[in-house]
Amino acid sequence: MSYITVAKKYTPKAVKQLVARFRKLFVYYDYDSSQYWKKRASDPDQAAVLWTNQAYNSLYRQDQQTTLEPYFKQLAPQATVLDIGCGIGVVARMITQINPNLKVDAVDFPEMIAVAKTKNAETQINYIACEAENYYREQQPYAVILSSGCYSAIRDIKKLEQALQYASQMLAKDGLLIMIDPFHRWNYLARAKYGSQDVINYFASRGLVLEKKSGILFWPFREWLANSKHTGETLRKRYLLGEKLLAVLGKHFWADYKILVFRKG
Ligand SMILES: C[S@@+](CC[C@H](N)C(=O)[O-])C[C@H]1O[C@@H](n2cnc3c(N)ncnc32)[C@H](O)[C@@H]1O
Repeated sequence: MSYITVAKKYTPKAVKQLVARFRKLFVYYDYDSSQYWKKRASDPDQAAVLWTNQAYNSLYRQDQQTTLEPYFKQLAPQATVLDIGCGIGVVARMITQINPNLKVDAVDFPEMIAVAKTKNAETQINYIACEAENYYREQQPYAVILSSGCYSAIRDIKKLEQALQYASQMLAKDGLLIMIDPFHRWNYLARAKYGSQDVINYFASRGLVLEKKSGILFWPFREWLANSKHTGETLRKRYLLGEKLLAVLGKHFWADYKILVFRKG
């Protein structure tokens, strides 16, 4: 490798990123995640809520839809569901496409809701600007509450547990709480430093029964691909290989996004 090739590969930005990754192994950065997400609302398309590689985001969305379909398809017409931390409304809209007879309450910070209303408006979706830890609806419990990456994004654990408590209270009897969330305790992958076992313990003490424990996005490949420049067939093949490895190695343990489904008894 010539000096020029090395210099091109290891630009100051690339070196900075590498150092940041290495530090993440040992140091957990705590910061106000609300401000972080409010700022991200203006990022392009789904980079506002997922990663910079839009093709990777689309691949993830397809798998997410496959995961969610059975739960939303079977609901009675006019059932009301909650998409907590709905971001720019991609999943809220996905739910209306899976089952057009549902009503979706979709909650997030005002900055995200403003984008959602322009990009993913549907008559069945009621967008609500509110923090998850302050959102509580007393009348008419929800048939399903979904957190697609929201709860794990609340780094303040007190606020996170407040949001979890409201979820358990707002859920109808026999209702489902579905989480597709990167719950981790390991510094390197943790957003909120809160593992799936913490979530399971939290809800076990509140009478919710764990029905499914799985995962999606093999984390080493997610790290490799989600913010990369890979595209097209190369990206698709690598993504699929990652998910195959996940199935072989253990769907929950090796997943970045944990899937947890609870039923309220
Ligand atoms: C990873 S993004 C996922 C967005 C969306 N659910 C999706 O799948 O496209 C996490 C979302 O949670 C929202 N969020 C984080 N903390 C929140 C809080 N305290 N209250 C409400 N929303 C919050 C962020 O604004 C962001 O939209």
